[in-house]
Amino acid sequence: MTTAHLPSAFLWGAATAGHQNDGGDTMSDTTFLENVEPTVFREAAGVGCGTWERWPEDLDLAAEMGFSAFRFSVEWARVEPERGVIDRSALDRYDAMVDRCLALGMSPVVTFSHFTAPHWFACRGGWPHADAPADFAAFCEVVMDRIGDRVAMAVTLNEPNLPRILEAVLPAQAWGGIAATLDAADRAAGVERYRAGNVVRREELDLVEAGFERAHIAARDAIRARRPELPVGMSLAVMDEVALPGGEARREAIIDVRYARWYRLVEGDDFLGVQNYERAQYGPEGVVVPEGGETNEMGSPVEPESLAGAVRMCHAATGLPILVSEHGLATADDDQRARFIPAALEGLDKAMADGVPVLGYLHWTLLDDFEWIAGYSAHFGLVEVDRETLERRPKPSSRVYAAEIRARRGAPAEQPVR
Ligand code: BGC
Repeated sequence: MTTAHLPSAFLWGAATAGHQNDGGDTMSDTTFLENVEPTVFREAAGVGCGTWERWPEDLDLAAEMGFSAFRFSVEWARVEPERGVIDRSALDRYDAMVDRCLALGMSPVVTFSHFTAPHWFACRGGWPHADAPADFAAFCEVVMDRIGDRVAMAVTLNEPNLPRILEAVLPAQAWGGIAATLDAADRAAGVERYRAGNVVRREELDLVEAGFERAHIAARDAIRARRPELPVGMSLAVMDEVALPGGEARREAIIDVRYARWYRLVEGDDFLGVQNYERAQYGPEGVVVPEGGETNEMGSPVEPESLAGAVRMCHAATGLPILVSEHGLATADDDQRARFIPAALEGLDKAMADGVPVLGYLHWTLLDDFEWIAGYSAHFGLVEVDRETLERRPKPSSRVYAAEIRARRGAPAEQPVR
C-alpha cells in the first residue's frame, strides 16, 4: 500500500531534461554516441542551451509563466562520471536549482534517468548488466541524500517503452543506422557491447526492457527507503491508441506490445507519468493515417485530443493517478502551438470532470532544445533559443499557456509542494 503524499494542488509547469538543455556533459553515453563515426545523430548536443550555467534565467522564465512545478533530470554522468566517484559540485548545482524552484513557488519534479547514462555504464553493457539495478539505485540514493527532502515527485525512468514504440515507426534503414552507431561505439570504446537506453538494437529490445524493469524496482525501493512519503513512479511514452470500426483487435495487440509489461510493473507505484504527442488509429488492415489534416514539423498529424485519450487509457489500465509528465508539439509555427495547448487542455479538463485523477500537466518543453537524433531541427519550446548567442526569447504560445494556467489556477499562488 502506498504511503505517498500526493501533491495537494494541481502541478502546472514544463518538463525538461538535462542532456537536451545543459550542454557539456562529456561523460554521458549519448555524448559518446553523438560523436562516433558513423552516427545516427544529426549533430552533437554540444553546448546545448547552456542551461548548466543559465538555469537561474530559465527558472525565472518558468516562474513568469505562472508555473507551480518544474521537471528536470539529474544527469547520472555528471554526478558519477566514473563508477563510485561522486562529483559533489554537480550535486551543488542541483541543490541550488531545487532551492530556487521552491523560492519561485515551483515544486521540483525530478527524473533520475532521462534516457542518458554514464559512459562507463554503457561500456559495461548498460541496463541489461547484472549490476545495473544496484548501481542505478546507489545513484538514486546519492541524489536523494542531497535533494530528496525538497522534491515533490520522483520519476525513476523516462519512457523505457519508447524504443518499442519506435519498432513500428522507424524504417529498416534507421535500424541499420542505430546498429552502425552502436558498432562504431563498440570499436571506439574498445568494448564488446556498448548499450544505451534510447539507442537500442532492434534484436535487444526485450533485453533492454527487462533491464529497465529491474532498475525501476531497485530505484523505487531506494527512493522509498530514503523518503517513504515521496510519490515515486515512472513515465511512459503513450500514443492515443484508437480503434476505428473493425480495428479493435489490432489496437488490443498493439497495447499488449507497447504497454502491457509496464502496466504490470507500475502496480506498486504511486502514480504514472503519461507522455503523449500523437494518436494512432487502427482499421481492420492496420494503421490508418488521416489525410489532409494539419501536421507537425515532423510530418505527423496534429491531434490535440490525443492527450485526454492517452490519459484515460492509462488510468483505466492501471488505476493509478496520472501525471502528464510531457505533452507538446514540434512546430516552427508558434501559432500552431498556441492553438494546440488550449485544445489539449480542454480535453484534459473533461477527463478530470469524468473522474480521472490527474495530478498535473507539464508541457514539453521550456526551450527549443536538443531533440536527440533530430538535433536542433525540431522546435518544441515555449521559448526560442538563439543558437549563436543562446539568448532566450519567449514565444507568443508561452503567454497563451500562461493564460490557460491562470484561468485554472487562480490567484494567489499555492505554496509549492514538498
Ligand atoms: C522525450 C523527450 C523528447 C520528447 C519529444 C519524449 O519522447 O521524453 O526527451 O524530447 O519526447 O520528442
